[in-house]
Amino acid sequence: VKNIKNIVIIGSGNVAFHLIKAFSLKGINIMQILGRNKETTENLSRTFKIPGITNKHELNSDADLYILAVQDDQIHKTALDLGLKDQLLVHTSGFSPLDLLDGTSTRTGVIWPLQTLTSGKKVDYRRIPIFIEGSSDGIEKDLSQFASLVSDKVVVARTAVRQQIHLAAVIASNFTNHLYEISASILEKNGIPFSVLAPLINETAEKAARGHPSGSQTGPAMRRDMKVIGEHLELLGDEPAFREIYRLISENITHHHTKTNEKL
Ligand SMILES: NC(=O)c1ccc[n+]([C@@H]2O[C@H](COP(=O)([O-])OP(=O)(O)OC[C@H]3O[C@@H](n4cnc5c(N)ncnc54)[C@H](OP(=O)(O)O)[C@@H]3O)[C@@H](O)[C@H]2O)c1
Repeated sequence: VKNIKNIVIIGSGNVAFHLIKAFSLKGINIMQILGRNKETTENLSRTFKIPGITNKHELNSDADLYILAVQDDQIHKTALDLGLKDQLLVHTSGFSPLDLLDGTSTRTGVIWPLQTLTSGKKVDYRRIPIFIEGSSDGIEKDLSQFASLVSDKVVVARTAVRQQIHLAAVIASNFTNHLYEISASILEKNGIPFSVLAPLINETAEKAARGHPSGSQTGPAMRRDMKVIGEHLELLGDEPAFREIYRLISENITHHHTKTNEKL
């Protein structure tokens, strides 16, 4: 296993910020960040005191690892543009397949941190699961060792499995957050701050995370309380999209728990 010590980050967004922060704290040398956005590239460069470049011709070609933290639809094109040959090149996406990097280097991989990451927001890196894939066993070993510097939970997961995990994560995190947005708009229309829901949100998430979500479902749909459900739908009268979401999710809760009860 060859130690990865010197790395280059491509991209200057959310994931780039956290990769730079987490790995530089562990003594990894961030040789450069290559961005296309001048402002965010300069910000990262200044914050972490590392060279920032926006011209790929200034790219250092002897890093141990090149990490592409760019939007999924930019991964292939950006990787090709780097003009690498045998240098280790990875992307950080949960959904994009490893073979998206085919033809961009002979040594490729994926380092996917399973956490919602926003520039500047604090997270506990040790608790973030990191899923690894490599175009050879040796690469998977190198990447696992590298990711273990920051995380206690590094797992090899190939593309097909990683995509299923990504699907589950989108539903658990992005969908739930959108439901929070709907809740916020209902409250704010009535002059009530969203923060009244904070203890409820935390308790729901902690209960599900401690055990299993099926053991902690409550509410009118779970109780099959059609009267409350009908009245809620009426309150959502002027918001057809929210109404539809409410109706679909309620039906699914009732249906899911009927099936579960029948099995018992
Ligand atoms: N955020 C998360 O929670 C999260 C978690 C795990 C994995 N991921 C994955 O990580 C990757 C990056 O996500 P993100 O949230 O960090 O996205 P992001 O905040 O939108 O950042 C993407 C960055 O890449 C830059 N970029 C695009 N094309 C480039 C190019 N050709 N050369 C240099 N820089 C380029 C963008 O510049 P512009 O400012 O010009 O667009 C932007 O700075 C995605 O594959 C995503 O699926 C994200």
